[in-house]
Amino acid sequence: MKHIINIKSLATKDINQILGIVFSLGLDKSIDLENKIVALLFFEPSTRTLLSFQTAIYKLGMKPLILNMDQSSRKKGESELDTVKTVMLYADLLIIRHPDNSFIEKCVEISTVPIINAGSGDDSHPTQALIDLYTILQYHKPPFKIGFVGDLKSSRTIKSLIRLLEKLYKERGLEYYFVPDGELDISDKILDDLDNMYYKRDKIEEIIKEIDILYMTRIQKERVNSRNAECNLKLTENLVNHSKNELIIMHPLPRLDEIPPGIDNNPKAVYFNNVSNSILVRGAILRWSLS
Ligand code: NCD
Repeated sequence: MKHIINIKSLATKDINQILGIVFSLGLDKSIDLENKIVALLFFEPSTRTLLSFQTAIYKLGMKPLILNMDQSSRKKGESELDTVKTVMLYADLLIIRHPDNSFIEKCVEISTVPIINAGSGDDSHPTQALIDLYTILQYHKPPFKIGFVGDLKSSRTIKSLIRLLEKLYKERGLEYYFVPDGELDISDKILDDLDNMYYKRDKIEEIIKEIDILYMTRIQKERVNSRNAECNLKLTENLVNHSKNELIIMHPLPRLDEIPPGIDNNPKAVYFNNVSNSILVRGAILRWSLS
């Protein structure tokens, strides 16, 4: 079965197949997908991941099944695994988001249908990493310099993107610049596994002239108890004006106060282009999983 558990579980061949589908079939309908039922089980809030998967499901001629957790038997005390066991009897594929890092693996052990991880804990968000990579490749080819700013401790999108870049571009001269907001630093576990070069910096000012890609993130207040959600590292128009012409600004969204909305119309800001790309890439992921 073709699950998407995390980046580690995907072979380079699988990643290339998924990107190949993006470029070849895209969101074209096909008879083998028609009327397939895809269930979305979100044990954590979501806007873009949920709706982009749902949009891709519709565009491919499939049917989404979305459990509203507030009205489900979870409210009567049913276990999360029993919820998953039940829904897999209705659907051809499950898309699951969960606050624990290991819940998806537990589901995969008992599953009779493919499972796609739509975000697990503070560790993995493989489909977002594939979307981010696709968007990056529209503007830059490796080697490139990428700066990660904000809550590097909780960001599952950053961790998955780094693992994906390391898997595909192991010795390709990438450079990572980590700019953590205070104590919210990237873990040594991630750093220990890097083959490409990395640097730590304190401020966006110190990297803005160097980098090709700026990847901003919000403070994940729901995972960080020690502080409020206000960030210390904010992007400004002035900083963007001092960046390279080819810089692209990424953000997995939702954003809080780290990027002022005034920057959204700057051609360097591609975070909403990334949202559009997510339908195509998630469509390709669904097609790959079901093939
Ligand atoms: C992120 C997530 O859920 O990990 N959003 C996303 O899926 N694109 C980022 C976040 O919650 O801050």
